[in-house]
Amino acid sequence: MNVSVVGSGYVGTTLSACLADLGHDVTAIDVDEETVDRLNAGETTIHEPGLDSLVSAYAGSRLRATTAHADAAETDLTFLAVGTPAKPDGSIDASVLLAAAEDVGEAIAEKEGYHLVVVKSTVLPDVLEDELVSAIEAASEGTESGDVGVAANPEFLREGSAVRDFMEPDRIVIGTDGDERALDRLAELYQPLISDWDIPVVETGRREAAMIKYANNTFLAAKVSLINDIGNVCKAFGVDAYEVADAIGLDSRISGEFLRSGVGWGGSCFPKDTAALVAGAESVGYEPAMVQAAIDLNDRQPERLLELLDRHVDVDGERVAVLGLAFKPGTDDVRGTRAKPVIEGLLERGAEVIAYDPRAAEAMAEEFPDVEYADSAAAALEGSRGAVVVTAWPEFAGLDAEFDAMADPVVVDGRRVVERREGITYEGLTW
Ligand code: UDX
Repeated sequence: MNVSVVGSGYVGTTLSACLADLGHDVTAIDVDEETVDRLNAGETTIHEPGLDSLVSAYAGSRLRATTAHADAAETDLTFLAVGTPAKPDGSIDASVLLAAAEDVGEAIAEKEGYHLVVVKSTVLPDVLEDELVSAIEAASEGTESGDVGVAANPEFLREGSAVRDFMEPDRIVIGTDGDERALDRLAELYQPLISDWDIPVVETGRREAAMIKYANNTFLAAKVSLINDIGNVCKAFGVDAYEVADAIGLDSRISGEFLRSGVGWGGSCFPKDTAALVAGAESVGYEPAMVQAAIDLNDRQPERLLELLDRHVDVDGERVAVLGLAFKPGTDDVRGTRAKPVIEGLLERGAEVIAYDPRAAEAMAEEFPDVEYADSAAAALEGSRGAVVVTAWPEFAGLDAEFDAMADPVVVDGRRVVERREGITYEGLTW
């Protein structure tokens, strides 16, 4: 098929490259000329395993990039994969997405025959239906046959495994207003995945599709918050929360995924989507108590980590190592990372913070320029009085003699990654 994808950020680039790999001809559309030039040169600004090789393999053949929204009219369907950042009150800012939708609507107004617009961006049901669909329909009113379909097809890509998640999804969600042509076109688009991997397709309404994305992320975030809550109780009782989690995870109704308790969740999705769900629900007169509790617990977890450190050291004037800054291992992304409240809490206590992360130090330095950044965990630990582990980088598991270079070492582990116990004061957050 001939597909256009508006937005060449994280989701849009992954989608474009993967659709090209499925055999489709893809036009990536972005307002940023540098992004477009780089894509056409076979390069990407996004670091994601497997993405570079796909982009370089298909650039100039099945994948081309442009700044011209008008080119959408020459394709069979257009994905909207533009970001929906959070406003200060937690609600989503859909202005850039709406502008893109209008551009596409105007482009397809000139087209003869049916055109399908597929919303990939994460939007709440009312924004999708009342603002986005209306904008597309209004802008494209002049279509020869008045023929425009709008579908919602949310993504569930994780950072670090986005290409694999696209190629082997748990399910494909397609939301329409009952438009059979939209369903047929998307079924044809995803056919290689559906037939090769036997992927279930969920056919539902557009509002439901939009809500499935929020419910999915909120459920996972709340699951981690719940095991963190239980983990805090475990710690108070002297119980190992990981042993408890391993056992409850064997109950197929619970499942063992997302049961690693610790200092909490971050990233580009969980914090934004849970906040947007609360703000959206409140705007229609409902207070989602569980979702709010999941957020509150996540906000409190870094302070619990520091309180464990306080039990052993008064860090005022002391050097404290922060191991791990990324919101999860395998990325340089510090959005929503628990390292921020941890560093803030340490600075408030008067500690001298020395941080280390194998990939995310540069990004963190933009927000905390006055913190010292070490180029190895060993260098961060040397001479430190305390250490806190915030990200589960595998290399922290092997730290051993490095702790001996600390002054009377106290290690508080927020991710259960450090293996050494002997000869140091070791505290696990929930074990
Ligand atoms: C998430 C969703 O998984 C994905 O489907 C959606 O499209 C985007 O948001 P991502 O943000 O890449 O993906 O990270 P994920 O691997 O889900 O982890 C999110 C956060 O939860 C991380 O901070 C991680 O450290 C934390 N987490 C996860 C835990 O603390 N414990 C767990 O058991 C699992």
